[in-house]
Amino acid sequence: MLTIKTLLTQLSIHQEATIHGWVKNKRGSKNVIFVTLQDGSCFSPLQVVIDPTQFKENLCKQITVGASLRITGKIVASPGGEQQKELSATHITILGHAPSDYPLQPKRHTLAFMRTIQHLRLRTNTFSAVFRVRHALSYAIHTFFHQKGFLWIHTPIITSVDAEGAGEVFGITSKEKEGNFFGKKVALTVSGQLPGEAAALSLGKIYTFGPTFRAENSNTPRHLAEFWMVEPEIAFYTLKENIALAIDMIKYCLRHALTHCKEEMAFLEKRMMYENKQKGQSTTRPLREHLTAIVSKDFTHITYTDAIALLKEVHTKAPQHFPDGIVPWGEDLQTTHERYLTKHFDGGVVVTNYPKGIKAFYMRQNDDGKSVAAMDILLPDVGEIVGGSQREERLDLLKAAITHMGLDLKELAWYLDTRRFGTVPHSGFGLGFERLVLLVTGMDNIRDVIPFPRTPNHAMC
Ligand code: 4AD
Ligand code: MG
Repeated sequence: MLTIKTLLTQLSIHQEATIHGWVKNKRGSKNVIFVTLQDGSCFSPLQVVIDPTQFKENLCKQITVGASLRITGKIVASPGGEQQKELSATHITILGHAPSDYPLQPKRHTLAFMRTIQHLRLRTNTFSAVFRVRHALSYAIHTFFHQKGFLWIHTPIITSVDAEGAGEVFGITSKEKEGNFFGKKVALTVSGQLPGEAAALSLGKIYTFGPTFRAENSNTPRHLAEFWMVEPEIAFYTLKENIALAIDMIKYCLRHALTHCKEEMAFLEKRMMYENKQKGQSTTRPLREHLTAIVSKDFTHITYTDAIALLKEVHTKAPQHFPDGIVPWGEDLQTTHERYLTKHFDGGVVVTNYPKGIKAFYMRQNDDGKSVAAMDILLPDVGEIVGGSQREERLDLLKAAITHMGLDLKELAWYLDTRRFGTVPHSGFGLGFERLVLLVTGMDNIRDVIPFPRTPNHAMC
């Protein structure tokens, strides 16, 4: 079946072609009708020219915005249009009608409105661009790891382990077995890391890339209850090598989108500038320039302790930056603090060596006895995009941390085996895939970069 992409890029003027698609727009007069048709094969639509005198009047009336058509015609040169080619129709079949209550009539719609029609919003330019970029970024991630010799491991979605130990899990029950199908309590996974570690400690370099679930009641533009995470895990890696890998991967993805999604990126940049202008923020850097700046600059490395000291110093001189003040050493940085750091250093920031009390049990304890070999990567606009660490490979310290955090040693016996039998230093991280898509597309809300978002009180289809 011929697609619009093939027609536009490979066919020549005067050739005959049959294409299928949905009507995006229709305009014209008694003498000529112009229809823009899209089929999803590329970002650009195809313009079809119809001479109404050659068709039944009733058929022309049924060509409405949202309807689906099969059109045969001749490819002709487009006079003065944005494209070089258009199709002059000779045969038209209406495949599916779209009555006048079709919600995506050609006018500007708000993103909030489009969230109420998630099943249709993919037909708009904005969402077509966003999801093409999302695809390109998934492809870039797989390519990046494949080229480096990593294996993609599919870790379980149903699990009995709360890897982050934060208690933010969605439990699963089965009606048939009175909720006890597995003979124990299970939930949707919050992270593929722990089974990922077992795989890395056998296969060397692995990554997971799949859906993860968190029942945190965070109704923010950066949180989803179901999101996709990329989690590499590497045997023999130290924290330093882990950080270098994460930065390399982020930069690879940004470069990939800039090189391979030119049309989409140009559109998203224009969209973002329009939105910013509406909000009175016309001074922000154009999207592509912004991403190029992140790629070309070294990320700043700072320890958690130094970050707190820096924020305190700023707060003393300019308290207006932090209306809620600065957290004391030992507490997690707040979004305002993270944002400030990326602005202050004008680019990516890696914060290391967090207090052990605010991080998960599996992180490697530092010699100071207070902090762990953790790292978070913060990026402008999106804040925390990566969380990772060197893992605790010493059995006794790991057991102590598990017990201290109130987790069940027996439930984690299989995990402890990886430390009992040939333990080695190893590291890994998790990148929130939607936060990467947010950054690259310049969208504001995480609900607009996953096709069907799940958030508190929202789970359409
Ligand atoms: O920092 P987190 O919780 O780390 C882990 O889950 C580790 N097990 C990862 C690892 O070391 N293998 O989550 C990792 C990233 C965050 O930095 C953030 O980008 C994203 O996942 N994330 C979310 N994204 C969207 N919605 C949420 N509710 C998210 N929670 C975390
Ligand atoms: Mg985190």
